[in-house]
Amino acid sequence: MKTPAAIEVRGVWKRFILRHNRVETLKDRVLATFDPRRRERREWFWALQDVSLEVRQGETLGLIGPNGSGKSTLLRLIARTLFPTRGEIAVRGRVSPMLEVGVGFHLELTGQENVYLNGSLLGLPRREIERLYPSIVAFAELEDFIDVPVKNYSSGMQARLGFAVAAHLNPDVLVIDEGLSVGDEAFQRKCQERMAAFRAEGKTIMFVSHNLRAVSALCDRVCLLVRGRVVAVGPPPEVIPRYEALSAAVRSGVADRILGPELGPRRRRLARERQGDPAARTP
Ligand SMILES: Nc1ncnc2c1ncn2[C@@H]1O[C@H](COP(=O)(O)OP(=O)(O)OP(=O)(O)O)[C@@H](O)[C@H]1O
Ligand SMILES: [Mg+2]
Repeated sequence: MKTPAAIEVRGVWKRFILRHNRVETLKDRVLATFDPRRRERREWFWALQDVSLEVRQGETLGLIGPNGSGKSTLLRLIARTLFPTRGEIAVRGRVSPMLEVGVGFHLELTGQENVYLNGSLLGLPRREIERLYPSIVAFAELEDFIDVPVKNYSSGMQARLGFAVAAHLNPDVLVIDEGLSVGDEAFQRKCQERMAAFRAEGKTIMFVSHNLRAVSALCDRVCLLVRGRVVAVGPPPEVIPRYEALSAAVRSGVADRILGPELGPRRRRLARERQGDPAARTP
C-alpha cells in the first residue's frame, strides 16, 4: 500500500511585489509628483510557478536549485510563515521548521528567550519546553552564550540554535533550510546524524541544501527547482547530475539551450503572454 502524503503541494504560485525606487517619506512623495524619475515603480515577481509536489510520510526529500530559484520560499509556505498566492498546501502532523538563518528569531531577545518563544509558537506547553531546554542548549553547545541577545550570535551560532530547537520539538515533519551549510564541520556532522535518526524513526524531512553530497547521502528523493518551477523530481542519482549539468551550462553561458528558450527572462514573459499565463501579467 502506498504511504500517505505528509506534505502535499498542489498548483502553488507565489507572487512578491518588488518595489523599485521606494517612496517612503512625505518629501519623497512631493518630489515624485514633480519628477517622474523619482516615482516608485512596482513589479510583480513570481517566485514559485505552478509547483506541485508530494512528500510521503517517512520520506526525506531534498530541495536543490540555483540561488533565487524559490527553495526557501517553498519551505516558508510549508512552515506557514508565508501563504501561497494561488494553490494549496496540506501538511499532516506538526511541522518544526528551521528556516534560513535569522528567520524565526527575535534578534533583540536572548537565546533562552528565543527557545521559549519558538517552543510556544509551535504549540508546546511551558513545562515541556522547560524539560527540553537543557538538552536544546547542550545540543547547540551554546551554554556560554544562551543569555546573550541573538543579534550578537554569529550566523553559525544562530543556525546551531535553530537546528537544536527544530530537532527537539518532536515534530512529525522537519523542515530545514540550509542549516547544514552554515555550521562548522563538527556541527554539520552532528546535524546529519540527528537527521539520520529522525529518518530511522519514520519522520518526514524536507530540506534545502547546496551541499549535494549531504543531499545524496540523506535523501530518498530530490526535487530540482529552477526559476520557480519544478524541473525534476526523483532519486538522487537521477536528479543531482541534472543540476550539475545545468550549473555547468550556466557557467558556460548555454543554460537557455538546456532549459529551453522560454525560460530566458524576456522570452519567458513573451511566451507566457502568448499562452495567456497569469504570471505574465504586470500590475
Ligand atoms: N519577501 C520577498 N519580497 C520580494 N521578493 C522576494 C521575497 N522573498 C523572496 N523573494 C524573491 O523570490 C525569489 C526566490 O527566493 P528564495 O529565497 O526562495 O530563493 P532560494 O532558492 O532559497 O535561493 P538561495 O539558494 O539563494 O537561498 C528570489 O528572486 C527573491 O528575490
Ligand atoms: Mg534560500
